[in-house]
Amino acid sequence: MAATAVEPRPDEAEPRGGAPSTRIAVHGLTKTYTRRDGTTVRAVDDLTLDVDAGEFLVLLGPSGCGKTTLLRSLAGLEDVQAGRIELDGRPVEDSAARVRVPTERRGLSMMFQSYALWPHKTVAQNVEYPLTTRRIDRPERADRVRTVLDAVGVGALAGQYPGALSGGQQQRVALARSLVAGDGIVLFDEPLSNVDARVREQLRAEIRRLHAEIGFTAVYVTHDQEEALTLATRLLVLREGRIAQSGSPAEVYLRPTDAGVARFMGAGNEISGVARGDIVTSDAGDVVGRAMPEIAEGTPVVAFSRPETWCFDPPPAVLNRWTGTVAGTVFLGSVSEHTVVLPGGVRVRVRTLGATGPDVGAEVEVGVPADAVRVLAASGSPS
Ligand SMILES: Nc1ncnc2c1ncn2[C@@H]1O[C@H](COP(=O)(O)OP(=O)(O)OP(=O)(O)O)[C@@H](O)[C@H]1O
Ligand SMILES: [Mg+2]
Repeated sequence: MAATAVEPRPDEAEPRGGAPSTRIAVHGLTKTYTRRDGTTVRAVDDLTLDVDAGEFLVLLGPSGCGKTTLLRSLAGLEDVQAGRIELDGRPVEDSAARVRVPTERRGLSMMFQSYALWPHKTVAQNVEYPLTTRRIDRPERADRVRTVLDAVGVGALAGQYPGALSGGQQQRVALARSLVAGDGIVLFDEPLSNVDARVREQLRAEIRRLHAEIGFTAVYVTHDQEEALTLATRLLVLREGRIAQSGSPAEVYLRPTDAGVARFMGAGNEISGVARGDIVTSDAGDVVGRAMPEIAEGTPVVAFSRPETWCFDPPPAVLNRWTGTVAGTVFLGSVSEHTVVLPGGVRVRVRTLGATGPDVGAEVEVGVPADAVRVLAASGSPS
């Protein structure tokens, strides 16, 4: 594609009120770093990505796969070597045409883990700050600050200093600060990783609600699978600066395209064997699944499935069925997880609701439907 980038006029670069979500188009983006020993790292590697206006895109992937670098590149904080970024069709980055629109003129806000509040400013002053650099008069600023503080549930704390707030309240203020300008894009880099589990769950729900209400486009980095599944309208799994898989949360969780993605998205039963079409020949016998198209006959594969898709006493229609022995049970609250040893010594985990299920040592019938089993290349890089 030809790059016909022009530096936008300053007035075009101002965030537009009333239409608060922005489309993002990334094409061929590459960012390499040179380490002090002279080796280079491709943090983002020829990455092409479209994010629709209003999407909530969650970036997942192992440490060092390029999540932060991608966010920083979107924000204009990285000196990228190649590629193009357009926001609503407006080029903000084009290395070939030497275009780089500065951060403050991209119409985006950020909430980063390390984005601390200023201790010497009150809550209201902290939240007002992003508005002071824009042409918004004082009464309107005060009005917006009040509205957004109420929206995130800390309206009563407007006059306090950050030092007098709990960690969760400080995160709420940081969230308010990232939303106050009403920008079309909000970038989040692990914003909830420093707060405890309960507060994290509350804030996650708040972010979800505010996204539905306000409608900004979100690009959100997290290491927490539950957070990713709760928030995302689309998940993007990165590996070594490239897209390993992109899809709806259910798609990526239930139909991972390789073993690396599958393992990264949570617990699974893996039965190793050799591929014969949709069948895996394993120590436990044949397992019927759905093979990825690129898998060749006779190659080493894993039959991958989620523990909650297995059941005891499977109905007759379930093709994959074994007699096994319960080796152990862990009660996890809403579910119990039972380890069952199949013929050939293959161990799988089976989940049941609450504290129900067979006794340890019992002989049981277990099974998993073929459409819950993915046949994946055994070489998928571990995460
Ligand atoms: N300033 C830098 N100089 C050299 N290498 C860097 C620099 N910043 C990042 N890298 C390297 O680029 C790669 C991607 O880093 P990045 O911070 O984007 O990863 P990440 O996916 O955000 O990881 P994490 O989940 O640990 O935050 C890593 O290999 C990292 O070591
Ligand atoms: Mg990071």
